[in-house]
Amino acid sequence: MITPMDLWSSLSEDLQHREDQGLRRFLVPCRPSSPTRTLRQGKSLLHFASNDYLAMAWNPEVRREFTQFAAQNSLGATASPLILGASEPYVHLVDSIAQWHQTESALVFPSGYAANLGTLQALVSPDDLVLSDTLNHACLIDGCRLSKATIKVFPHRDTQTLGQLLSNFRHRFRMAYVLTDTLFSMDGHIAPIPQIESLCREFNALAIADEAHASGVFGQHGRGLLDAYRADPSVWIKIGTLSKAIGCTGGYVAGTQLLCDTLLHRARPLIFSTALPPAVLAAAARSIQILQSMDDQRHKLLHMSAYLRKELALRGFRTSSDSTPIIPVYVDDPHEALRLSKKLLDQGIFVPAIRPPTVPPNGCLIRISLNAAHTPEDCQQLLDALE
Ligand SMILES: Cc1ncc(COP(=O)(O)O)c(C=O)c1O
Repeated sequence: MITPMDLWSSLSEDLQHREDQGLRRFLVPCRPSSPTRTLRQGKSLLHFASNDYLAMAWNPEVRREFTQFAAQNSLGATASPLILGASEPYVHLVDSIAQWHQTESALVFPSGYAANLGTLQALVSPDDLVLSDTLNHACLIDGCRLSKATIKVFPHRDTQTLGQLLSNFRHRFRMAYVLTDTLFSMDGHIAPIPQIESLCREFNALAIADEAHASGVFGQHGRGLLDAYRADPSVWIKIGTLSKAIGCTGGYVAGTQLLCDTLLHRARPLIFSTALPPAVLAAAARSIQILQSMDDQRHKLLHMSAYLRKELALRGFRTSSDSTPIIPVYVDDPHEALRLSKKLLDQGIFVPAIRPPTVPPNGCLIRISLNAAHTPEDCQQLLDALE
């Protein structure tokens, strides 16, 4: 037994331990002024730190939609959509998402985190097997834990081991699910979508995809990586967020009517949380409408990402090879990640240091996130500073 005093002193020791290991975190005041610039601690910086891949968070039409709706509607939604009802902008957004993804239906959650958590908690039962990529995002991991299913973690993108696990264990469980981010948020890797799909077919499993960083950026009309790989919708459950390329906030699931009706009855983060504010819902629907015709910006973004990645590799930096706007520069440990990030800050550039527990202890990096508003000159400035 410990006393509350013991508890507080052990928590204080824990923070000190994190500090010693270069793992202490702080909320640093900032004021973004454009998709690529922010004030941080009073200093104006070029930044490569947002997930606003298409700069929709700054899009004038989307922001106008937000302000107009905010002026004419309540600020908060004031209740869960199951209590007060699905407002007009909620229904419009759901229809927009379903149309965009060409699915029968969709559901909007308070966040992408809630969408992942709620879907897993609602569908996966304690009699099931969950196979999860070791670098999956925390919300998939937490959803697995909540489901109380048997969880087996396979090495990152290792479909051989995944196949072995399915072959060894599938027959012992009621149902099996393979979970994967489609675009991994820290390393910028693309998941082996076709291989996962064929393993799911072979072993009668379903795949659950977190398209958080891929939707808006890849695929026809920005529908995401599942669309880019022409994935079979009968194998995959698609989860996305409104907080990255869509530039707003919230999460969604797009799929069959049966899936959405089931989630409506079972997904606790949806049932027991207040709906998103009407102005946010309206702005997200407008953003989705606009971004579908932004192929030029998507093309430019991926082209610039490939260029930057190539130039980093030529200069001897360790990076990843997939052509995506998330570009890691790997370093040896948390102290080095902080040191590199700080050196860039001194030159007027902000690239965040990514340390455990966000990445495994041997996976420290600084993460360059490009968006469509970055220019070749911005990339050159970053390359010069890194050099
Ligand atoms: C891969 C991934 N999935 C889900 C989320 C959660 O999305 P949201 O910020 O909308 O809760 C994030 C956010 O950081 C993410 O990186």
